[in-house]
Amino acid sequence: MGKKFYITTAIHYVNDLPHIGHMYENVVADVIARHRRRMGDDVWFLTGTDEHGQKIERSAAKEGIEPIELANRVVANHHELWKRLNISNDDFIRTTEARHRVGVLELIRRIQERMPDDIYLGEHSGWYCQSEETFIPENQVKDGKDTDGHAVEWTTEKNLFFKLSRYTQPLLEHYRANPTFVYPQTRLNEVMAFVEQGLKDLSISRTSIKWGIPFPGHQDHVIYVWMDALTNYISALGFGSGDHGKLDHYWPADMHLVGKDIVRFHAVYWPAFLMSAGLPLPKQVVGHGWWLRDQQKISKSLGNIVRPDNIIGDFGPDPFRYFVMREMVFGQDQDYSDEAFLTRYNADLANDLGNTLSRAIKMSDTYFGGKTPPTPCEDNDLLRAAQQIVPEYLALMDECAFSRALDAAWRLLVAINGYIVSREPWKMFKENGADESLSRVIWNSLEALRIVWVMVAPFMPATTREALARLGANPDAIAAGDLAWGGLANGGPVRVTDPIFPRADAAQYIGGNKLEQQPPAQETPSPETTQAAAPDMEKISIDQFFQTDLRVAEVRAAERVPKSKKLMKMTVFTGDEERTIVAGIATKYTSEELVGRKIIIVANLQPAKLMGIESNGMVLAASINGEPSLLSVDPAVPAGTKVK
Ligand code: MSP
Repeated sequence: MGKKFYITTAIHYVNDLPHIGHMYENVVADVIARHRRRMGDDVWFLTGTDEHGQKIERSAAKEGIEPIELANRVVANHHELWKRLNISNDDFIRTTEARHRVGVLELIRRIQERMPDDIYLGEHSGWYCQSEETFIPENQVKDGKDTDGHAVEWTTEKNLFFKLSRYTQPLLEHYRANPTFVYPQTRLNEVMAFVEQGLKDLSISRTSIKWGIPFPGHQDHVIYVWMDALTNYISALGFGSGDHGKLDHYWPADMHLVGKDIVRFHAVYWPAFLMSAGLPLPKQVVGHGWWLRDQQKISKSLGNIVRPDNIIGDFGPDPFRYFVMREMVFGQDQDYSDEAFLTRYNADLANDLGNTLSRAIKMSDTYFGGKTPPTPCEDNDLLRAAQQIVPEYLALMDECAFSRALDAAWRLLVAINGYIVSREPWKMFKENGADESLSRVIWNSLEALRIVWVMVAPFMPATTREALARLGANPDAIAAGDLAWGGLANGGPVRVTDPIFPRADAAQYIGGNKLEQQPPAQETPSPETTQAAAPDMEKISIDQFFQTDLRVAEVRAAERVPKSKKLMKMTVFTGDEERTIVAGIATKYTSEELVGRKIIIVANLQPAKLMGIESNGMVLAASINGEPSLLSVDPAVPAGTKVK
């Protein structure tokens, strides 16, 4: 086994289903874990769920259920999602597990033993942010809000405190001695600027919350959710259990991968707790950027959640994984849209990667009887291109510059296409048949393609296996050594079959109302059934249902969208205004059939552009084999009437 590599994600709150931000984080961690594994490291990859604290307590109370019931329901969804996305985590920790409680209590015990006055009972007043469950420094509060826009309240509390102030200097020294401790640099600068102001002691217990681990010796206090949550990284390795085999082997973590909003907790509080307890510090805290929707962070509190279930369901996990890794410049923020996904899917995957693969395999099949050509080649343009690109790719992977690493792989793809076009193998075959020169040209193209796919492997693991098999290569040969030139067998079987990424009709896909915010079809649960139906992750609460504003609308005008088979542009009246809605119903309805009709619309959907037309809402229709059937209502019901 190579050197150990322990990577963690943040543990995700269970007050809501995972969204694209959570998915992104786990995909990034998975790409890193898969890449390190294939480079020979002994990888341990941990993810999990953060189940204690006020957020969960409140969300459960809203539904009238126990916090653990909510957690059990949502956690089932996490497991299912990570399976669907092919996340290769080695362990999954829930903060409600016994092993975690043991670890948290052991951390506190060690702090109390080693630094007896680091934890003390005290009183503190300050700006408290309920949403983050933390005090916010005075200079970060403006008009009753913190820098993230969360409301803060002036609060006084008698609590247990951690002497964080004692760690200001040791932390600064640690950052200076380890300039990549926080990565990228911008995040380090932010952390250092924060610590340089001088750290205040941290309140680490709560009496207002019941849902958590009771503080030892102070049973009416629960342990501060962040102290509880951060300990997952060692509790999952058996910290405090008496069996420290995994802990001794994998700790300290090599990388805590988290979003930029929680870098501070990982790079300031966590190392301070560890210093106090006499435990080694993680090697690196890496902060990724945010997925945005209309330039705002996607989050439950803002109500602009994106869950691309349709995309993953319809295209499989790999195109989604590729898209998020390619589209987002690591560390920066990125706006999400289905349109951007479809553009990349068609251009990068269906066209560049998929077509080049089909084309090269087809030629090998035709010219060399279903096999890879008989002659290898050790001196050619593609070999030189691969030898230049692979080291660049590896360096970019080490820097977490995933978008650029993929770009490097695509440069080899461009070189392959250029090579094929300039050699004109179809002419060579016509003129001289399947001779040695042709054998070299085709084999070189296939071999370079194999290397492209080996580069792509951590991003699209399932499709890579399929592509390698089609190329006549070993589907599991994706290790570091397989990036070297010369791995493709001569005379191996190639497989000509359907396109690996079938082209998508973007307008039709989006016009078919497959908007990313549309929840999967489901029955509306009554409050009673919500309570009774326990771990069914597709169910939503009645509150969630009521977030959808359904209204009766009257169609006042309708015309087909030019150049679209499916799309109809309608002007509808909603009782107080007219608005435009574009819907994929033109295969079934004519404008005459629509005008005057009363339909049901989702009135509070964010606008979306369909073939350049802004659509403000969505019509409800049943779909029978793709054929829409509009929901209608008694014509006497006035436009604007709420539907529930
Ligand atoms: N439970 C805490 C983390 C405790 S770790 C000891 C938490 N949970 S969270 O569910 O709110 O967020 C989990 C991770 O998802 C965090 O790293 C967070 O930054 C990330 N994201 C949440 N929304 C995001 C986006 N819109 N975009 C990208 N990632 C973001 O914080």
